[in-house]
Amino acid sequence: MNFELKALGLAEAAAQKCDALVVVMGEDFAGGSDPVSRLAQEARKAGDFEGKPGKLLQAYRFEGVAASRLVLAGAGDGSAKRIQAAVHAAVAALRSKGVKRLVVCLPADAPEGAVRAAVAGTAEASYVFVATKSKPEGRELQRVTIAVAGDVAAHQGAFDAARAAANGIEFARELGNLPPNLATPTRLGEEAKKLAKAHGFQCEVLGPKEVAKLGMGALAAVARGSEEPLRFIVLKYQGAAASEAPVVLVGKGITFDSGGISIKPAPEMDEMKFDMGGAASVLGTFRALGEVRPAINVVGLIPSCENLPDGRALKPGDVLTSLSGQTIEVLNTDAEGRLILCDALTYAERFKPRAVVDIATLTGACVIALGAVRSGLFASDDDLALALQEAGDAACDPCWRMPLDDEYGEGLKTNFADMANVAGRPAGAVTAAKFLQRFASRYPWAHLDIAGTAWKGGAAKGATGRPVGLLVQYLLGQQAPSAAGRKPAAAAKRKPAAGAAMARRTGGAGRKAAA
Ligand code: BES
Ligand code: MN
Ligand code: ZN
Repeated sequence: MNFELKALGLAEAAAQKCDALVVVMGEDFAGGSDPVSRLAQEARKAGDFEGKPGKLLQAYRFEGVAASRLVLAGAGDGSAKRIQAAVHAAVAALRSKGVKRLVVCLPADAPEGAVRAAVAGTAEASYVFVATKSKPEGRELQRVTIAVAGDVAAHQGAFDAARAAANGIEFARELGNLPPNLATPTRLGEEAKKLAKAHGFQCEVLGPKEVAKLGMGALAAVARGSEEPLRFIVLKYQGAAASEAPVVLVGKGITFDSGGISIKPAPEMDEMKFDMGGAASVLGTFRALGEVRPAINVVGLIPSCENLPDGRALKPGDVLTSLSGQTIEVLNTDAEGRLILCDALTYAERFKPRAVVDIATLTGACVIALGAVRSGLFASDDDLALALQEAGDAACDPCWRMPLDDEYGEGLKTNFADMANVAGRPAGAVTAAKFLQRFASRYPWAHLDIAGTAWKGGAAKGATGRPVGLLVQYLLGQQAPSAAGRKPAAAAKRKPAAGAAMARRTGGAGRKAAA
C-alpha cells in the first residue's frame, strides 16, 4: 500500500479522482459552503451525524464528490486517538467494497499526531493475513492520500515516521500471525538476516552450540524440550557515531509455549503461537528504523525457542545456571519467558547501553491487571519510564507503569538456588518483573509486559503489532537535539523532577539504577 501526503482543503479533496473519500470531522466541525460541508451541517441539524466518536455517515455517488463512496467519520473531540479510531472505522466499513484509491481528509485544525493517526488507522484496518490461505484475497487498498490543511512540509517528518512505523507494525503482525510450524526460531533468524541485508544492519544468529558455549544455561534449558533448534539473534542498527551508547531492545521469542512439563490446558493453547510477540516487535521496530534511519544506535536481542514437554525437557525442581552466574530453581516450566530473557539481559551488558527495554508476552496476570488497553510498564529508571509512557501515549500504543517495590520479590526465595522462577499467584506480573530486574542492575532498564496487548483473541484473532508504535516513537525521541533539523523530544528535555512526580503517582516504584 502506498501512502502520499497532500495539502488539500475539503473542496479540493472532494474533487480528487479516487474510489472513496473519508472525511474526518470532530463534533466542533463548522465547515464551509462546499457540498460535503453542507451535507455535514444538514446531518448535524437533523441529529443524524454529530461527529461523535466512532459514528459514520456513508453516501454513494454524492453530488459534488468525485469518489463514488463518501464516508464522514466522527472524531469526537478531534484528538489523535479519536482520529485514529475514526479512520479505522471508516476504512473497516469500506473493506471488500473494491476500494483501491482512497483519500483521507483530516480536519483543518487537526492536532499534532493527526497524520500519524490517519496512516496508522488506515494501515491497521486494511491489513489482511493471507500467507496460509489457499485462495488469497489480499488487501484491496493500493494508494492512500492523506489530505492535510496548509503546509505539507510541516507534516512531512511525522508522515515519513508514521509510514515507517506502519510498515514495522505490519511486519510484526505478519510474523505473529504465522503458524508456529512456520514461524520457528530458525525462521525468526532468517527474517532478521533478511532485514539486515535489506537495510544494512549487522546481524548475528547464534545456535545451540554457541549459546551453550557462552554459558546461557537458562535459555539452553528451555530449548531442550523441543526438536526445533534455538536461536539467539543479535541485530545492530548504527545511525550515530560508534562511540554513542546504544538502546538495547530485548524481545521474547517463544515461538510456541505449551507450558512444557507444567503443561497448559488445551483451550486456546493455539494462541501461544503469539508468544513471540516481543521478538516480532523488535524485528518490526528494526524494519521501521531501516526506513527512517534516525541518528541513534540500537541493538536488538532475541532469544528464541519453543517451550515443549519432552524426555529432555526441563522439569520442576531443576536448577539452572544463568549467564550471569546466578542460579535458578525452576518451580514451573511455564514461567519460561523470564528464563530466556534473563540470559539476554545479561548479554546486553556488553553493549554498555544507555537503556535496555525488554518486550515480552510474559504473564497472564498482566492481562488480568490491564486487559488489552495498556501494556504493563516496569522500570528501574524514572526518566526511561516517563519517556516510554509519553511515547506510548503519543503513538496511541499506551502503557501503564507498575510498581517494583522490593517486597514483591520476596516470594522468589528458595532453599535450593539463588532464586526460584516463580513466586505465588498474587501480583504475578510484578513478581515476573522482579525476577528480570535481578539481571538488569547494570543499566537503566524497563520491561514491557505485552501479554494483553500483543494479540487479540476471539473472532478478531490476530497479532496487533504492538508495541512497535510505542518503540518507534520512543527511539525517534532519543536522537540528540542537534540531529538534522529534528526537534528534541519533550521527554529528552524533561527534568528529573517530572520523573519524581511520576514515581509518586505510581506509588514510588521508580528507582534510579546505577549506570
Ligand atoms: N506466555 C505466557 C504468558 C501468557 C499467558 C500470555 C496467557 C498471554 C496469555 C507465559 O510464558 C506464562 O505461561 N506465564 C505463566 C507464569 C506463571 C507460571 C507464573 C502465566 O502467566 O500463567
Ligand atoms: Mn509459559
Ligand atoms: Zn510464554
